[in-house]
Amino acid sequence: MGANQSIRLKSSRKQYQSCQRKNSRGSQDSGDSNVDLNLVTSNGRIFLKNSNNEYLLAVDDIEADRLHKRHHTQWHVWKSHFSSPVKTLLNLGNMNVLDVGCGPATWLMDMATEYPQSHFTGVDIVPLYPADRMPDNLTFIQANVMEDLPFEDGSFDYIYVNDLLAYFPGKCCKEQIFPDLLRLLKPGGWLEITEYERKLYETGPNTEFLMDKLSTVFHNRGASGIPVYEILPDLFQNDDDLIEFRREDKFVKYCDFQLTISEFTYVFSTLKNMILEFTSMNSAKYDEILSCACKELLKHKTSFHVTRFYAQKRTKELQLI
Ligand SMILES: C[S@@+](CC[C@H](N)C(=O)[O-])C[C@H]1O[C@@H](n2cnc3c(N)ncnc32)[C@H](O)[C@@H]1O
Repeated sequence: MGANQSIRLKSSRKQYQSCQRKNSRGSQDSGDSNVDLNLVTSNGRIFLKNSNNEYLLAVDDIEADRLHKRHHTQWHVWKSHFSSPVKTLLNLGNMNVLDVGCGPATWLMDMATEYPQSHFTGVDIVPLYPADRMPDNLTFIQANVMEDLPFEDGSFDYIYVNDLLAYFPGKCCKEQIFPDLLRLLKPGGWLEITEYERKLYETGPNTEFLMDKLSTVFHNRGASGIPVYEILPDLFQNDDDLIEFRREDKFVKYCDFQLTISEFTYVFSTLKNMILEFTSMNSAKYDEILSCACKELLKHKTSFHVTRFYAQKRTKELQLI
């Protein structure tokens, strides 16, 4: 990253937000955490730069705003907050729900409000959650999914993960993150993972060009090889602890959801410096390609694929059947 400032933090929320304030608008503070973050600023945006964490998107208030907006688009696409058959249990109450890589906790805030009798926990490596307006049944823990999460085995009835695993190498998902999620799940509980395919359909040349550069960014940040989206069905189906594997797929056309075009622009603007680092293009040329690509999304009716994968953890009784 060009003219960067590297900030190493034994990160409490307070320290993280002091970094936010230097870069954007900042906010309130709260407790400490043991997560050791190495934050890097580039063009006024904050990125993670841990030796063992190559998450490529920004982790700041601007990103939180994007994730809030995307949550609403997702609602229009799915018309539901989840696909696992847990609604009755959530209504009955006393369900322990975990959202891993919860970002600004938008999904959690909706869920905690809709199901006040159940308890919700959000985990993220950075504290993007709104500490000043958390419902009583919602807790946030700052932790790194590349390590075992700080909960006892079988702590949760339902684990939800949205748009997280694709940023990690397949090997890491297979050997660390997925097994740890299963460890945390109670027998009989449900695991639901939503991921986006890293591929667009019906694309124009500028869009293809940018998608190709995106693959290089993933490769450079250690997430090369078979994309996680493609290995997830095998992970679910080949695990002896899981039964009732299901998937729900949506093809989303950019032209049907204006916000998805802003999202495309946002993601490729965020990645601009990373892409310029390994191409001979100048900044103005990049902006022109991005602007043309956005027009192509409408013209070609470009679409993308998003899938909810979910399954239930086997109980001893279910093992006997
Ligand atoms: C694309 S965002 C999705 C956030 C949220 N699930 C949503 O759909 O709005 C991915 C999130 O993963 C978090 N993240 C990245 N690396 C992580 C790690 N190693 N451990 C925990 N969270 C991580 C980021 O901070 C970010 O909030």
